[in-house]
Amino acid sequence: MGKVFAVVNNKGGVGKTTITLNLAHSLANKGVSVLVVDLDNQCNATSNFFPTAPDATLYELLDGEGIDPNKCVYPTQYDRVHFLPNTEDSGSLEPELLARDDKGYQLLNQRLRSYAINRFDFTLLDCPPNLGLFSLQAMAAADFVICPVTGGSRYATAGLDKTIRTIKYVQEEVNPNLRFLRLILNQVDRREGVDRAFVAGILEDYEGLVFETMIPRCTAVKQSEALKQTVLRAAPKSAAASKFRKLATELIDLLQE
Ligand SMILES: Nc1ncnc2c1ncn2[C@@H]1O[C@H](COP(=O)(O)OP(=O)(O)OP(=O)(O)O)[C@@H](O)[C@H]1O
Ligand SMILES: [Mg+2]
Repeated sequence: MGKVFAVVNNKGGVGKTTITLNLAHSLANKGVSVLVVDLDNQCNATSNFFPTAPDATLYELLDGEGIDPNKCVYPTQYDRVHFLPNTEDSGSLEPELLARDDKGYQLLNQRLRSYAINRFDFTLLDCPPNLGLFSLQAMAAADFVICPVTGGSRYATAGLDKTIRTIKYVQEEVNPNLRFLRLILNQVDRREGVDRAFVAGILEDYEGLVFETMIPRCTAVKQSEALKQTVLRAAPKSAAASKFRKLATELIDLLQE
């Protein structure tokens, strides 16, 4: 059975999408199969994988009776990586879903989880920068939460408490099997004092809950994003690519513990 990971932080721009895409590619390079799901109707992951809008998306999966997940899951340019795209319109489903008895929290769980865990070793859910319905659906359908945090600012952990409180709420009310796996420190430059202090603070406050592998701030990440490729493909020798390979190894090892 595969495992499902929600990549969550209500703060924007911390690297949820970057980490989801690059972790997917680096896991797949190790021979496992991966499904990436774009739960953010900004559609950053979708536009990275698809230059033109795909026919069937998350919208069709969650609308009405929903379609067979197979119809909205597509192969990508990366071997063993499949993708379920999103569309801007999916935000318009929110009022309808919230009016349901279960507030729509369980819909992704009901319509995607068993398909995903039966076909893929890893499913990565790229969440929007809020703790609204789509992040809640992701956590309702997931086994684990991974929470990216960025270095370089003393405001970096603002909102982290809120994210962690929401995870606890989901564990108590919606999905008792959900486990907070690790924080991942992104955009870290340990040569800078503010980042060194930030890393030390996080490691102290969240002892045992931080991936050892940290992703450096690296121009190759921005360049590869502009090329609509993972950094592993566009700049395989970059520091960031090397850390994403390490992160995949660390994650696989962690699950075997
Ligand atoms: N390690 C890094 N080094 C350099 N730039 C990075 C790094 N990680 C992310 N970025 C850049 O920071 C920006 C935000 O990253 P990303 O889109 O992955 O964040 P996000 O959390 O998904 O944002 P949102 O909350 O809007 O969905 C992007 O332009 C990305 O290229
Ligand atoms: Mg994003």
